[in-house]
Formats: sequence, C-alpha cells, structure tokens
Amino acid sequence: MYYDSRPLMNEGTPAKPAEGSGEMLWGFWYPAVRSDRVHGRQLQRTTLLEVPLVVGRDAAEKPFALRDICPHRAFPLSYGQFDGALVECAYHGWQFDAHTGQCRHIPSLTADSKLKCERIYAGSFPCEERDGYIWAFMANAEGRVEPSDALPPVPELPTFSPRYRIAHLAADLPCSVDHGIIGLMDPAHGPFVHQAWWWRSRRSIRDKAKQFEPIPNGFRMSPHPPSANSAPYKILKLITGEPATTTIDFVLPNQRFEQVRAGRYWLSSRTTVTPIRGDLCRLDFVAAWNILPWFPIVSLIIHVLGPRFIRQDSEVIEKQSLGLAHEKRMMLVDDADRQARWYFELKASYLESQHTGQPLRHPLAGPVTLRWRS
Ligand code: FES
Ligand SMILES: [Fe+2]
Repeated sequence: MYYDSRPLMNEGTPAKPAEGSGEMLWGFWYPAVRSDRVHGRQLQRTTLLEVPLVVGRDAAEKPFALRDICPHRAFPLSYGQFDGALVECAYHGWQFDAHTGQCRHIPSLTADSKLKCERIYAGSFPCEERDGYIWAFMANAEGRVEPSDALPPVPELPTFSPRYRIAHLAADLPCSVDHGIIGLMDPAHGPFVHQAWWWRSRRSIRDKAKQFEPIPNGFRMSPHPPSANSAPYKILKLITGEPATTTIDFVLPNQRFEQVRAGRYWLSSRTTVTPIRGDLCRLDFVAAWNILPWFPIVSLIIHVLGPRFIRQDSEVIEKQSLGLAHEKRMMLVDDADRQARWYFELKASYLESQHTGQPLRHPLAGPVTLRWRS
C-alpha cells in the first residue's frame, strides 16, 4: 500500500487496524424490524449483531424478541407455532414464554419426571416499539436478561409540534458497521457521489467551516445556516420566509440526527446503521416534519430524492466492498475525516468504559471548528 508522505498528508497515517474492523457494540437499543411488518400471530425472522431473532406480538400486541434458536437442539423457533403467549418449537414441541423465554412445557416428559423445565430459557431481548420500529436491547448475544440492569430509554426521534408527517426509508449496505457509519458522517463524498443540479456538483465545492461540540456519547455539528449551495434549503427559506438552521448529532452506537428549523417549521430525521452481520448493515431513515403538511414538497423530497440519495450511498459502498475485500486499512485525512476519527475514538472509549466501569472518556474536550472543502 502506498502512503503519501508529504507534510500536507501527515495526518493521513494509517488508522489503527482495529478501526474499521466493524466490532459491534453491546448494551444499546437497535431497530430490529419495522412495526408494520409484524402482524397477528406471525413470527418474523431477523438478525441483529449476528444474533438470529424471532420477533412477534403477544395477544395484547406487545412486541417480543427471542433468540431464534431453541435451547433443546437449536431448531429455529421462527418455524414454530405461536398462540399469542407461548412460542412452540416445531421440532419437539417445547414451549417458551414469548417475553421471558422461560420454558413452560416439554411434551416428552412423563408425569414423574424430575426435570425442572422452568429452569430452561430461550434467549430473550427487551423489546419496545417507537417511531415505527420494534427495537431490541442487545445486552449480549445470548439474550441473557439481568433483571438488575436498568435499561436506557429507547431512542426517540425529536419532534417539535403535536401534528406532523412521518416517513421511513431503508436500504441494505454490504459493509461492516464502521464503513456504513463513517460514510454517514463523511462530508467529502457529497460532490462526487450525490451530484445533482439541485444539490451538489464538483463546481459547487467550496470552503466550509463548521463548529462541533461534545454531547453525551457523541458529538454535535452546532446549529448553523444550511449549505448555501443546496436547493432544498433555498426552497425552505422561500416557503417559510425565515432563515433556517441545521443541527446534526452523531450518537453511539449508530445514530445520526439532523434537525432543520425555520421559524415554527421543522424537519427532524434520524439515520441508523445497524449491524446485521460482520459484512452487512441495514440503514434505516425516519423523518418527521410539519412544513406545509397540505403541500407535498417535503414528502416529495423525502420519497423521491431520499431513495435516490440512499441508492447512491449503497452503490458506492457496494463498489467499495470490492476493494475492502483486499485492503482493510484506511487513511483518515485531516478535518474532512475528523468525524470518522472521533467515531472510532468514541467507540474505543465506550469499550474501555464498559471494561473498567469508569465513565466514558470523551474525545472532544470542548468546541472545535473543522474546515474542509465540499
Ligand atoms: S429442538 Fe426445539 S424442541 Fe427440540
Ligand atoms: Fe452519502
């Protein structure tokens, strides 16, 4: 591999080998499936952090998530029957409580059997529904729930008025979670990957200076006027008649929030990149807005331009994976790649704090201004 050694590039030293390895972070809520994909007594199969899950709803519609592996002989529980309370394995009929995973019945046992089936558990994951997703709390791969563990609140999309519209988009990204996430926060690919007359082109590249500040488990691009070179923001200014500001947060393990506010109008979005396997992630995008609910301009931007943006990103990642198959190392160069560095530092600090029990050492001591061209 070739490294440029000019002084200009002296920050382009190869990143630590662990960076980009895609290590998955335990102890967080992850979106497992879209709410509207789980109906009635259906058992829905999905995977989070390489853990196979079976997701369903009990008779009261409350969602549950079990490890999709029968503790008897590893048969996927998702092939079984569900009566609204108990999941029955299709191989030998063992039955498990859908929420706790506790075994309730083993049909092969005789009446005088000494075996205590209630001591057997299928792995189970705390489960909640919010913003159109069923979320699972991934404390560990086994689905061992420690009753003493206080869970953090389920991530919530911020909204700023009682009435708003909401939309969801999703895409698979064939890469490790790290490449998916640093692709989200990378300002330098816009003019090359997302070229469009109404957004960016090479000719529109200009100097940028953005202020960042530390927030718990992440960092914030402080409120600023949106890029002068993007048409959607010009439209927003035109229709609201107010100057808009944008705030962008990244929060571990995988969330990017963006808020655009102009007077009483707002648009709030969240993108998560969730590891499915070591080489596959799912991008989930949800946006809510109250801008001209009777005039579908924002809806149009989100439903037409959103998928196009996401397609451009997933195509670039597909091509990148051809190279990553041969070369895992990467160069993180100067301010344009600084956020990617912070992400890796935050991740390392989180793992360290889990190990030591100490509070997370934040990579940002205070506000910082980054400069790049995009
Ligand atoms: S494998 Fe599930 S009951 Fe035997
Ligand atoms: Fe992108």
